[in-house]
Amino acid sequence: MNKTNNTLVIKVCFIAALAGLLFGLDIAYVNGALEFIARDFNLTEDQSQQIAGVLLTGAAVGALCSGWLSRIFGRKKILVLAALIFTIFTLAGILSHNINAFLVTRFILGLAIGIASFVAPLYLSEIAPYKIRGGLIAMYQLMITIGILLMFVSNASLHSTGSWRIMLAVLLIPSAIMLIGTLTLPESPRWLVLVGRGKDAENVLTKIRGTKAEVDFEISEIKESLVGAKSGFKLLSHPYFLKVLLLGVLLQGLQQFSGMNAFMYYSSKIFMEAGVNNPAVATMIVGLVNVLTTFLAIKYVDKLGRKPILYFGLMLLIASCAVSGYIFHLQSTGVILNATLQYTLLCFCLLFIFAFAISLGPIVWILCAEIYPLEGRDFGITVSTMANWIFNAIIGSYTLTWFKNLGVSGTFWLFGGACILGVILVNRFTPETKDVTLEELEFNLKANKKLRDLGERTN
Ligand code: BGC
Repeated sequence: MNKTNNTLVIKVCFIAALAGLLFGLDIAYVNGALEFIARDFNLTEDQSQQIAGVLLTGAAVGALCSGWLSRIFGRKKILVLAALIFTIFTLAGILSHNINAFLVTRFILGLAIGIASFVAPLYLSEIAPYKIRGGLIAMYQLMITIGILLMFVSNASLHSTGSWRIMLAVLLIPSAIMLIGTLTLPESPRWLVLVGRGKDAENVLTKIRGTKAEVDFEISEIKESLVGAKSGFKLLSHPYFLKVLLLGVLLQGLQQFSGMNAFMYYSSKIFMEAGVNNPAVATMIVGLVNVLTTFLAIKYVDKLGRKPILYFGLMLLIASCAVSGYIFHLQSTGVILNATLQYTLLCFCLLFIFAFAISLGPIVWILCAEIYPLEGRDFGITVSTMANWIFNAIIGSYTLTWFKNLGVSGTFWLFGGACILGVILVNRFTPETKDVTLEELEFNLKANKKLRDLGERTN
């Protein structure tokens, strides 16, 4: 591939990955704005929780619909639609004058997040040349983390205004950029072939691949993988598809039950419990480590492969859950945490963020965009993305209850336990997808190879 084409692919992927930025911004928005929303609308504690909950529910519904939508209308149009919803309903949220109207806007924004969290990685996996595919999908994750960080910083700096409307207005800028950007995107060549528009697919590929030979090879590989194609539902009768579907759901379960979002939603509370002086600053550091580490993931995911990085991340996650849990356990037995223990705790919490951001954060999204056969890819990504949002909603809604019932220590150990199961999942059932084309993965899947062997090269 020549340099110009590479630049074009990166530009295209950057625009699609803006969906991730909005995902992150919207997740983190509630974190800092909730107290002002509750004040202005006179909300009870329960009503306040609904504001986060309704967004996550919308996201699960959005993810559910997006598979069919993007199959019928194409990836590009659906990305444009998501951007349009982001823009219009952010504005509607700013202008809403009662809690019900505001909740409706949160639900609809959730829909857009769900749709975007499905279509953007799908689009990226279909447009990227396989050699840099992992890195480009990881760029989507990078955007999520940047979104979260920007919102932590923006909320903290706008705190003195006391206005959740101003905090929300910040979101209008990336929404508008995404809207304009997505209008310029080319359609996914794989989708074009899927709907019988081979000539258009060739035109798109000619712009983004280096040589005619590459274009012809890719078109023929896509066509070959479509022979005997069935739609997602029909594929459910095939054990090979069920296997890979279950793997996607379990990987998303692992990502969420590692406990990362306990930090994203409640880090201030965790640091406050530990007596850390400035929880808002600690939260911003959490956001920063998350972003910086994701850069490393992008750099290494296509070089070192998915599985070695997953093992590395899971080991560190287990260690940090064990140690942080132990320090909280000491506290629960009456030990006052001195400065050394507090710093140790902070370090292990940051190690936790590092470990997640290098491994489960990006790699689960990458694997879920790669493992399904083309004709069931929309359906497979729909199911796994929906699973992500449902598990995410469980973490969002129950972490505080677990803190109360199991203690912070017990909750950390629970997350550590999930990561131990994760090592088994990776070892026994997860394929290495580095340096294989999506078509080779599909060939192996249909040849009934074991899940962990799907990444073997066929030529
Ligand atoms: C997860 C999100 C999480 C984010 C944190 C993503 O991969 O899906 O639930 O909030 O990482 O960086």
